[in-house]
Amino acid sequence: MAMARGTKMVISLLRAVLALVMLLIGDTEAAANHGFDYRKALHNSLLYFEAQRSGHLPYNQRVQWRGHSGLGDGLQEGVDLVGGYYDAGDNVKFGLPMAFTVTMLSWSAIEFADEIIAAGEWRHVLEAIKWGTDYFVKAHMEPDVLWAEVGDGDTDHYCWQRPEDMTTSRQAYKVDRENPGSDLVGETAAAMAAASIVFRRSDPRYSDLLLRHAEQLFEFGDKYRGKYDSSVAEVWRYYASVSGYGDEMLWAALWLHRATGSSIYLDYAVDMADEFGGTGWAITEFSWDVKYAGLQILAAKLLLEGNHRPEHKPTLEQYKSKAEHYLCACLGKNGDAGNVNRTAGGMLFVRQWNNMQYVTNAAFLLTVYSRYLTSSSELHCPAASSSVDELAALARAQADYVLGNNPTGVSYMVGYSHRFPRQVHHRAASIVSHRADGRFIGSVLPNRSIFKTTSKRIQNG
Ligand SMILES: *[C@@H]1O[C@H](CO)[C@@H](O)[C@H](O)[C@H]1NC(C)=O
Ligand SMILES: *[C@@H]1O[C@H](CO)[C@@H](O)[C@H](O)[C@H]1NC(C)=O
Repeated sequence: MAMARGTKMVISLLRAVLALVMLLIGDTEAAANHGFDYRKALHNSLLYFEAQRSGHLPYNQRVQWRGHSGLGDGLQEGVDLVGGYYDAGDNVKFGLPMAFTVTMLSWSAIEFADEIIAAGEWRHVLEAIKWGTDYFVKAHMEPDVLWAEVGDGDTDHYCWQRPEDMTTSRQAYKVDRENPGSDLVGETAAAMAAASIVFRRSDPRYSDLLLRHAEQLFEFGDKYRGKYDSSVAEVWRYYASVSGYGDEMLWAALWLHRATGSSIYLDYAVDMADEFGGTGWAITEFSWDVKYAGLQILAAKLLLEGNHRPEHKPTLEQYKSKAEHYLCACLGKNGDAGNVNRTAGGMLFVRQWNNMQYVTNAAFLLTVYSRYLTSSSELHCPAASSSVDELAALARAQADYVLGNNPTGVSYMVGYSHRFPRQVHHRAASIVSHRADGRFIGSVLPNRSIFKTTSKRIQNG
């Protein structure tokens, strides 16, 4: 169990940073007023993705202490699985959280394109997305096969090696017709569909390619249903899909609808809403596993914009009410129906392990929804109503907490502010750079005092 927890911590940091990307960009002006430099935070958070790159690094790689790695991934299986992202911290490539990361990066790019462009980061956002989608294209060379993972969490966690030196198993695992995985497949379809929207103008051919993959994946996931952690036992201790695949399939359908405008996908999200829990689950967490709040907000957007047929309305209303349950829970306005807890310092608190991912994901959804509502409208929660400004203010407060407005005055973002963690969340960051010392460094057992030293350093700034 300790191992599983370790992984969760690791990965969620990745999510935390990426989610920051989006909410930061929303509001550069206001931020300047109270001392937070969101532009810099956006810049830093995009660098983080470069630190997690696997494969052959390009000439314009900015994070220079990393090198080429995982160049034989897929070789044993006769496929090319070079590229993609490490799982933050370790050297495994896990498909489900990686795909969620790409979906969220794409959503942020779609929603905040103007702000990202104004901040001069558009190219870097596209590169961060493409590093993921190029890999998914490789992982999906046959309609009903998707490679789910490269590397093995168990052996990986017993060594402390730079990815450039890896000697651990690089076995790859897949889902197919006999061993389905609709959660993984659905999330990857969502990522490809959302990314196809991002690339539509700048690279229409690439956008079409991504969309073809998204449509094929969606069909595969729907036709051969099952949970991927039943098919790929190796993921179970690290990224088990606790919420099942209903949320990912609805999420994929709504992203495909947004990408294609085709009513087939909206019909699916409406027809399957009940069976897949889309209109049933009122949940206070949005994460790499549990996407209900996100897809409920996508559905609510269609309703708010009147972008639907009359017969869809009742179901979309139900989606919207569940979306609002989530937002009201974050605002603490659900009364007895359930709110998200807060720490003494005011941070949203979902659970002990890697809590920041839920904080930044919540801030993102709050920001997005505040933009979907008209500025004069209100969010009617059981305990009290909230103005659009209140939603945005909560999102900003959570972002500012991450950036240092917290009881210890520590920024959780490497390189931001004057007190921050000194090493990004990857084990390679705690070992000499292979550029400085290219000699092979063998496998070492994790030294507990490394963790102690690091956390002390973080606390002392
Ligand atoms: C809030 O914290 C309490 C006490 O730890 C816990 O019982 C409850 O489940 C938490 N609520 C949520 C929504 O997580
Ligand atoms: C673990 O790390 C600490 C601090 O760097 C060091 O003093 C100690 O010798 C290391 N222990 C082992 C077994 O490598």
